[in-house]
Amino acid sequence: MENQNTYNYKVVRQFAVMTVIWGIVGMLVGVIIAAQLVWPQLNFDMPWLSYGRLRPLHTNAVIFAFGGSALFATSYYAVQRTCQVRLFSDRLAAFTFWGWTVIILLAAITLPLGLTSGKEYAELEWPIDILIAVVWVSYAVVFFGTIVKRQVKHIYVANWFFGAFIITVAVLHIVNSAALPVGLFKSYSVYAGTIDAMVQWWYGHNAVGFFLTAGFLGIMYYFIPKQVGAPIYSYRLSVVHFWALISTYMWAGPHHLQFTALPDWAQSLGMIFSLILIAPSWGGMINGIMTLSGAWHKLRSDPILKFLIVSLSFYGMSTFEGPMMSIKTVNALSHYTDWTIGHVHSGALGWVGLVSIGAIYFLIPKVFGKSEMYSTRLIETHFWVATIGIVLYIVAMWIAGVMQGLMWRAVNDDGTLTYSFVEALNAMYPYYIVRLLGGLLYLSGMFIMAYNVWKTIAGSKPAADAIPQTA
Ligand code: HEM
Ligand code: HEM
Repeated sequence: MENQNTYNYKVVRQFAVMTVIWGIVGMLVGVIIAAQLVWPQLNFDMPWLSYGRLRPLHTNAVIFAFGGSALFATSYYAVQRTCQVRLFSDRLAAFTFWGWTVIILLAAITLPLGLTSGKEYAELEWPIDILIAVVWVSYAVVFFGTIVKRQVKHIYVANWFFGAFIITVAVLHIVNSAALPVGLFKSYSVYAGTIDAMVQWWYGHNAVGFFLTAGFLGIMYYFIPKQVGAPIYSYRLSVVHFWALISTYMWAGPHHLQFTALPDWAQSLGMIFSLILIAPSWGGMINGIMTLSGAWHKLRSDPILKFLIVSLSFYGMSTFEGPMMSIKTVNALSHYTDWTIGHVHSGALGWVGLVSIGAIYFLIPKVFGKSEMYSTRLIETHFWVATIGIVLYIVAMWIAGVMQGLMWRAVNDDGTLTYSFVEALNAMYPYYIVRLLGGLLYLSGMFIMAYNVWKTIAGSKPAADAIPQTA
């Protein structure tokens, strides 16, 4: 049990278990809103169950509670193992866990009550925003404090990605949340008009780039080589990947504001940087996937590796699709349609979800002092259920999205619209049902995971942990 004492695994255990729990909660809300889009009466005429309030609850729960917990767990684990030291401060690490939990609970109360700043992915009101800033700065202190007291000279590349994610998210959150409070639960953004939109989507896109991408690339750079049992394919590529990715993402935000009041040159700039982004994104994906070269056969028998590698395929897919959607002529069709929702979920379910799940399966036995997960077959089942769920979800949204876009813009010879809005909406129902089925499958995979995690923790498979591992 040496590692259990050398390193602070308690906080990793807490965040790892909460990843599964928040995953279930957030995805359950996703399934509920997907069902509401098919049967609107499911809001039961209660304001706090209405679609407009549950949607931000879903996005906050899956991104910040599920994704956030996965990032805390994996970064705290990886930074200790690669630096060969215990976390900088146990107390501050515990504060980040309890602080983050309180923030999530406050979000779960205030969003259904309709208390919101109205900024997408930054809906929480100012007192909660201040708490987020305090917890996030504490996270930075624990993470970078650990790097400073490291026992090995080299700073492993996963830590650069985690570090960039932590610093950038602090800056994005503090700048975008700047607001004038007019009461305990109401505030107004300090920015106005187009500037407000620009700041919001500088935040929004970099939340994708740094929260949903750079942090999870940190997971890729630590957990894929670990699970494969080989070093990363190219160290040089990882250096280029890091600098190219972080210097490009910052400029792509205006692609969320094509054809708006934003100056035209800014929209074009957003488009150009989005197209450039293909290169670092695919460079990173190739680096992860090629780490398997010479060991491809492992994919057949190791479902954890399946999760990690297939997540990279979805990463590649969504980072090809995103740049395409940023092209103005394509965006003219895709914007406001379900195509965007399909793109979001191929990134969210395929990349963020699968890589987190794979890493948590890797972590759980290690931090609970067990030799392996309770059941490898259940991991395999989870993998297939989740993958089929994603495919159903995104294919349904692609078809629905392109159809919507084409129906909205279709005009008759006399210039009148061919279809009314309701006709286009009616055409969506079959696809919304398929999306709901896909979501249900993905959610049921999370229940399988919860059972497997529970049996692993409660079970008695002895720890192989007595032999200290190198990072
Ligand atoms: C069981 C799984 C899930 C289901 C059924 C689901 C369902 C939904 C639905 C119905 C919407 C609203 C779509 C609309 O307004 O037309 C949505 C939005 C969204 N979901 Fe999910 N979701 C799931 C998992 C996730 C996960 C794991 C993440 C992130 C890690 C995520 C991130 C988002 C985001 C960011 C949006 C907002 C998209 C936008 O505004 O363009 N979802 N989801
Ligand atoms: C090279 C990388 C990427 C580029 C250039 C890109 C580009 C885009 C574009 C053009 C849109 C549509 C904007 C609109 O019409 O409103 C979009 C939406 C979105 N993308 Fe991506 N994307 C990329 C990768 C990703 C990844 C990996 C994820 C998730 C993990 C993701 C999550 C989202 C979300 C959540 C939205 C919806 C935002 C909203 O309107 O609420 N993107 N992206």
